[in-house]
Amino acid sequence: MANPHPPGLWSGRFAEPVDEKVKRYTASIPFDYRLALYDIQGSLAHAAMLHHVGVLSEADLAAIRRGMAEIRAEIEAGRFAWSLDDEDVHLNIEKALTAKIGDAGKRLHTGRSRNDQVATDVRLWLREAIDRLLALLKNCQSALLDVAETHADTVMPGFTHLQVAQPVTFGHHLLAYVEMLARDAERLTDCRKRVNRLPLGAAALAGTSYPIDREYVARELGFEAVCENSLDAVSDRDFAIEFTAAASLIMTHLSRLSEELILWMSPRFGFIDLADRYCTGSSIMPQKKNPDVPELVRGKTGRVNGHLVALLTLMKGQPLAYNKDNQEDKEPLFDTVDTLADTLALYADMIGGIRVKAEAMRQAARQGYATATDLADYLVKKGLPFRDAHEAVARAVRAAEAKGVDLADLPLAELQAMSPLVGEDVYAVLSLEGSLAARDHLGGTAPAQVRAAIARARRRLAG
Ligand code: ARG
Repeated sequence: MANPHPPGLWSGRFAEPVDEKVKRYTASIPFDYRLALYDIQGSLAHAAMLHHVGVLSEADLAAIRRGMAEIRAEIEAGRFAWSLDDEDVHLNIEKALTAKIGDAGKRLHTGRSRNDQVATDVRLWLREAIDRLLALLKNCQSALLDVAETHADTVMPGFTHLQVAQPVTFGHHLLAYVEMLARDAERLTDCRKRVNRLPLGAAALAGTSYPIDREYVARELGFEAVCENSLDAVSDRDFAIEFTAAASLIMTHLSRLSEELILWMSPRFGFIDLADRYCTGSSIMPQKKNPDVPELVRGKTGRVNGHLVALLTLMKGQPLAYNKDNQEDKEPLFDTVDTLADTLALYADMIGGIRVKAEAMRQAARQGYATATDLADYLVKKGLPFRDAHEAVARAVRAAEAKGVDLADLPLAELQAMSPLVGEDVYAVLSLEGSLAARDHLGGTAPAQVRAAIARARRRLAG
């Protein structure tokens, strides 16, 4: 029986054309066109290898290179006509190639399947995305370090349970986020190693009967290793899941910082102001300046975390090897990269534009008996067991509270009533600066330590 519809790239076996709704449902071209340049890159490496092992003639290889160069130029110029009829990026490009160069185009798919092809494309795409994200993460850390340096000794209340706990410096507080982002960068770098492996050669699932040289292709594409099992190579997307998990953590860290920026900017705190270009007004309340960007970062974190769950769920029920489910990996992955890249780029600039209200931070640190622990430590150093010191200071806090003053404002006689061990030197301990300076060890909030930590972080970033 004659084929009732124009021959496509796999239509030979079918007696009726694919239903229009099915075509739309199964096509990935609306989103996977983003893989196009990587698809061409992978195809060129595959063709070079086929020639290298004697499966493809010199003339065919030259034709493939010429045709692909034209297609690449058309794509880059936005002139390439993507067609839903050709399902996905791989078939669109292969069809265009064959239209240009004839049979040589049809020989390109020798020893290859879309299954190993798509896994290769996604890995190439993601590898480059990771490199871009690592650079953006660096900028973000640098921006945080610059503000931390300016405020290495700007005192603010440190919180636990969102209650004033002990004084810290604003620089020290920001350095906490530098550490988080540094670990995030380590995670991305480590994940990149597992992304950077070659699936091509696995073909549909079992490998191929052609005498292929997978190491040759890996070298051509800059992969540091070859996926060693053909079934695994075409089916697992753990590299994308791992990446999205790392991305979720980055967003989660930025979401926490965003939450703090929002709190600090609220008039109840009044610790900072964000640059106007990062805020919007209210259409009804003229007095408002809303921290929209940090709020959206907090919101978009939910979206990226959702992509992680989507990818995990996509994978969990799939038997080996390739299943079409895997086509659903792209939109979550693409959106994760886009969201994270946009967020990091905005963040670096937003941090640089923070205006710090140091006096408000200091006032807040003076209000919550933030040096109570210092007073207890003082008594311990004079010989009182810590638990007794804790009790004595709690009494002093109650006395100060009753008078509505800070511990440092209580007269010496009253402090001595709490414990006879108290001497004149207690006031140095009760000062915010005294409390900061006392925490003078690796990882502590003493301004000298904060400066040393900044120097270390800068070296790490440069290295
Ligand atoms: N568009 C497909 C995907 O993204 C390419 C692989 C198709 N393979 C297949 N056997 N239908 O996964």
